[in-house]
Amino acid sequence: RRCRSPGRAIDSGDDFDRALEAIGRPSVLKTRRFGYDGKGQRMIRAEGAIERSAIMAEFGGAPLILEGFVPFEREVSVVAARSADGSFAAFDLCENEHRDHILAVTRVPATGISPETAASAIAIARRIADALDYVGVLAVEMFLVREGESERVVVNEIAPRVHNSGHWTIEGALTSQFAQHVRAVCGWPLGDAARTGGMRVEMHNLIGDEAEGWREILARPGAHLHLYGKGEFRPGRKMGHVTRLIP
Ligand SMILES: Nc1ncnc2c1ncn2[C@@H]1O[C@H](COP(=O)(O)OP(=O)(O)OP(=O)(O)O)[C@@H](O)[C@H]1O
Ligand SMILES: [Mg+2]
Repeated sequence: RRCRSPGRAIDSGDDFDRALEAIGRPSVLKTRRFGYDGKGQRMIRAEGAIERSAIMAEFGGAPLILEGFVPFEREVSVVAARSADGSFAAFDLCENEHRDHILAVTRVPATGISPETAASAIAIARRIADALDYVGVLAVEMFLVREGESERVVVNEIAPRVHNSGHWTIEGALTSQFAQHVRAVCGWPLGDAARTGGMRVEMHNLIGDEAEGWREILARPGAHLHLYGKGEFRPGRKMGHVTRLIP
């Protein structure tokens, strides 16, 4: 069974027509490189006329991919490390809530997903890391899709690095994703990826002026505040995050 969303590369107007024919609508048009936080992305709706040249002009001639829209129930990610000797350690499955295409909240462990599906998500991430002979921490973003009684995950994106949905590990896991990355690239034994005290964890990104509330956040019991020291607030800019461990 397919475990990634269908996609077609687009480098010309003809490719655009062929991709639309093959993938259908609704679909999502994305730049193939340098996209983040939903930048370089545009929805192609199911209905209405398509202004091909106007749409392509928006992207300024960048190489594109058209992806089929995945009607997902929720979004999850696997953050895991692989070492050169093939050893592998995954953190618990993360559930990610996006607002305006930007990650807003990560909750761990993910809810509303069976233990079998969570295990298969981690197995898929391991297969990807093995296939790439990958060394270090990586994140694999996935959609949870429900079809009648059955559920499965569909891979959306691979981030070959430490990832925002793994920031909770700083306090929430016995080894943080950053320490784990160093262990992996140095060929040291990987650390224990279990959650601290088996607690549930929530990580909230502070986006734009949300970071102005830092004083109030510090007053909340159990809140761990991280500010990134960016010079100015801008709408949609990730300024920091707060992690909360929930007994
Ligand atoms: N094929 C799709 N079907 C449905 N929703 C999608 C699809 N592709 C993207 N999205 C939505 O847009 C969000 C951002 O997409 P994606 O992760 O591909 O982009 P990004 O800009 O590279 O983000 P990131 O900041 O994670 O690097 C996804 O988390 C999802 O909510
Ligand atoms: Mg993404």
